[in-house]
Amino acid sequence: MSAAAGFGKVAVLMGGKSAEREISLLSGNGVLKALRSKGVDAHAFDPSERDLFELKREGYARCFIALHGRGGEDGTLQGALEVLGIPYTGSGVLGSALAMDKVRTKQVWRANDLPTPPYEAIDAKTDFGAVAARLGLPLIVKPVQEGSSIGITKVRAAAEMDEAFALAVNYDPVVIAERFIDGPEYTASIVDDAALPLIRIEAPEGKYDYQNKYFTDVTKYLCPCGLPAAKEDEIKALALKAFQSAGCTGWGRIDLMLDSQSRPWLLEVNTAPGMTGHSLVPMAAKAVGISYEDLCVRILEGAHVG
Ligand SMILES: Nc1ncnc2c1ncn2[C@@H]1O[C@H](COP(=O)(O)OP(=O)(O)O)[C@@H](O)[C@H]1O
Ligand SMILES: [Mg+2]
Repeated sequence: MSAAAGFGKVAVLMGGKSAEREISLLSGNGVLKALRSKGVDAHAFDPSERDLFELKREGYARCFIALHGRGGEDGTLQGALEVLGIPYTGSGVLGSALAMDKVRTKQVWRANDLPTPPYEAIDAKTDFGAVAARLGLPLIVKPVQEGSSIGITKVRAAAEMDEAFALAVNYDPVVIAERFIDGPEYTASIVDDAALPLIRIEAPEGKYDYQNKYFTDVTKYLCPCGLPAAKEDEIKALALKAFQSAGCTGWGRIDLMLDSQSRPWLLEVNTAPGMTGHSLVPMAAKAVGISYEDLCVRILEGAHVG
C-alpha cells in the first residue's frame, strides 16, 4: 500500500461562510490538486453547503482544513471533528479558538513575557484623542477577530479614528487600537512544530492590505529575508515559542514586525494560513527544498484528534 493510500479518503475542507471564503477556495483547490497529484484520494468538501455528518457517512478518514476565519479556523469546526472522531490538520480546539482572538492571544503572550505591541480596546464611547495620546500616532485600528487585513486602518490623526472604528466594528464588536510598529514586516511559518526560514514582506508604502495580499504583484516577498543568521534564528525561536504558548500545534504562521531598533513585536497567529499560489508557508517551505505537493502531504500526515 502506498503512503498516499494509507491516508484513506481525505476531505479538503474549503469555502465556508467567513469573509475569507474566496481565499479559502483558492487555498483548498491548490491543496486538492497537490494531494491528488501525490495519489491521495482527496475530495473537496464545503461545510457551508453540506452537513459535517456527511463526512462520517461517506467514509472520510481525514480532513485537511483549508478554511480561513470564523467557522473554520476558530475551534468550532475542530470541536465538531473531535466529536465525529475524524483526524484533522493543524491546531486543536484551544489553540484555534485562542489564536482567532487577537486580544486574548496578546494577553497570553504578555503573561509569558513575549513582546506584542501595546493596545487598548476601543468602543463608540471611547475618548479617541486620549487613546491616540497614550499609544502615539500613527496607530493601527483592527477588529479582534478577522483576517486578511480586512477591517484594518492605519490612523494618522486622532480625527480619523471615528471612521477607522466604524469600519472595524463591521467585522467584530470588539475592536482594538494598537501601537504602530514602524519597521519591516516578517512572517514565520511553522510546519511540523518547527520554524521555516522567515519571509520579509515589503508592501508598497508599507500598505499590506487585502488587495496587496492577494491580488497585486507589487508586494515583494523576500526569502531569504536578509537578516543576519543569528537574528533570524532568534526570531524563529521567538515565533515558535509564541505559537506554542498560544496552544497551537502542527502548522501555522506567526506575523511579526521589527521596530527601528530591530526589536521584534508579535502581531498574530494564523492557525490555517493561506495555501494559495501567493501564499507564504509554501514559499518558506520551498526555500528549504519542500515542494508545494510535499508540504501538503506533510501537513496531512500531522492530522490528529485529541
Ligand atoms: N501594530 C501594527 N503596526 C504596524 N502595522 C501593523 C500593525 N498591526 C497590523 N499591521 C499591518 O496590518 C497587517 C494585518 O494585520 P494582522 O494583525 O496580521 O491581521 P490580519 O492579517 O489577521 O488581518 C499586517 O500584516 C501589517 O502589515
Ligand atoms: Mg496577519
